[in-house]
Amino acid sequence: MAEGKISARLFTTVKVGAIDCANRVFMAPLTRCRSTPGTDAPNALNVEYYVQRAGAGLIVSEATQISPQGKGYMGAPGIYTREQEAGWRAITDAVHAKGGKIVAQLWHVGRISHPDLQPGGALPVAPSAINAGLFTTTQNGKMAQVTPRALETHEVAGIVADYRHAAQTAKNAGFDGVEIHAANGYLLEQFLRDSTNRRTDEYGGSIANRLRFTLAAVDAAIEVFGADRVGIRLSPVTLANNCPLDSNTEAVYGALVDQLAARKIAFIHFIEGNTQVEHTKSGFDFAGARQRFGGTYIANNGYTRAMALDAVERGAVDAVAFGRPFLANPDLPKRLLLDAPLNEPNPKTFYKPGAEGYTDYPAL
Ligand SMILES: Cc1cc2nc3c(=O)[nH]c(=O)nc-3n(C[C@H](O)[C@H](O)[C@H](O)COP(=O)(O)O)c2cc1C
Repeated sequence: MAEGKISARLFTTVKVGAIDCANRVFMAPLTRCRSTPGTDAPNALNVEYYVQRAGAGLIVSEATQISPQGKGYMGAPGIYTREQEAGWRAITDAVHAKGGKIVAQLWHVGRISHPDLQPGGALPVAPSAINAGLFTTTQNGKMAQVTPRALETHEVAGIVADYRHAAQTAKNAGFDGVEIHAANGYLLEQFLRDSTNRRTDEYGGSIANRLRFTLAAVDAAIEVFGADRVGIRLSPVTLANNCPLDSNTEAVYGALVDQLAARKIAFIHFIEGNTQVEHTKSGFDFAGARQRFGGTYIANNGYTRAMALDAVERGAVDAVAFGRPFLANPDLPKRLLLDAPLNEPNPKTFYKPGAEGYTDYPAL
């Protein structure tokens, strides 16, 4: 009896801002590096992949760079040219034809790039000249990251304009909305945290200053879509991409949540714990943030079927986004409903070009 009741809520409809979703099993953003080389535009293989997963209540697209400067992964798609817009249009049309919903994740990697991927071989940009010390895969192989160039104050407005243009491109391409990627150690998170932001201008120092860029990007998206079709991804306690935690995580991310609440954006997509490493609600008051925000709370990171059923049933979260399970199970909502066995994801093909490990995971 209890099981039947529990199952029901995860599979019920939910309204995310203005977006009507058929169920609460969402697809997390997943970079797959299979866009068309040269144009970074989505192609027919990408359409097939997304259509297979259209049963999600909401698909958050793989991260899409807002400009050539925002790029840090070979094969990752862009969302700033006409060709990219057309490629995405084929995807959104196909997902909508199956009754699905899809938002675009807007991305700038900041220091997690390499001159080989940058226009004119330029240095990657960041809040401060601090090397992440990792590796970036480029056309010339796996390259050690370099010390990035600290952005000039006046350049930030230009990147905000890139966010606005990318949001407009997403709207033209038929997306239901956008998710601002402010997680996982990329540019906006680099600005949020005092570990990577040592600036002394209006984008560094105080918490209000460190939030300024992220909120400007959110506001740019709101101008295009309206607040009820804009969301954000946050990972207050993740260490992804060698971005050390802020010295006061609760204060920074709490203040950010309050600002997002005031803007009445559609959703916050929280990575609970360290991305892909550990699911935990410690290190930040996620439940408190949910109360303070008031909009849709999408939870992610290491959720199993049982955890998702329980969290949604208790009303602790509104929806659960699955990453690796959705990558390997195109019909994940159906499998969770039936409690059917799951295909295992194969990490060797996560970022490898071609259909293998991409569109060939079988449905039930
Ligand atoms: C192959 C792969 C690609 C990913 N790409 C992105 C991405 O583009 N944007 C993002 O915010 N997170 C990305 N993530 C993180 C996932 O969205 C998710 O947070 C993580 O996999 C934990 O959820 P899971 O336990 O359900 O897989 C990626 C993860 C994987 C495994």
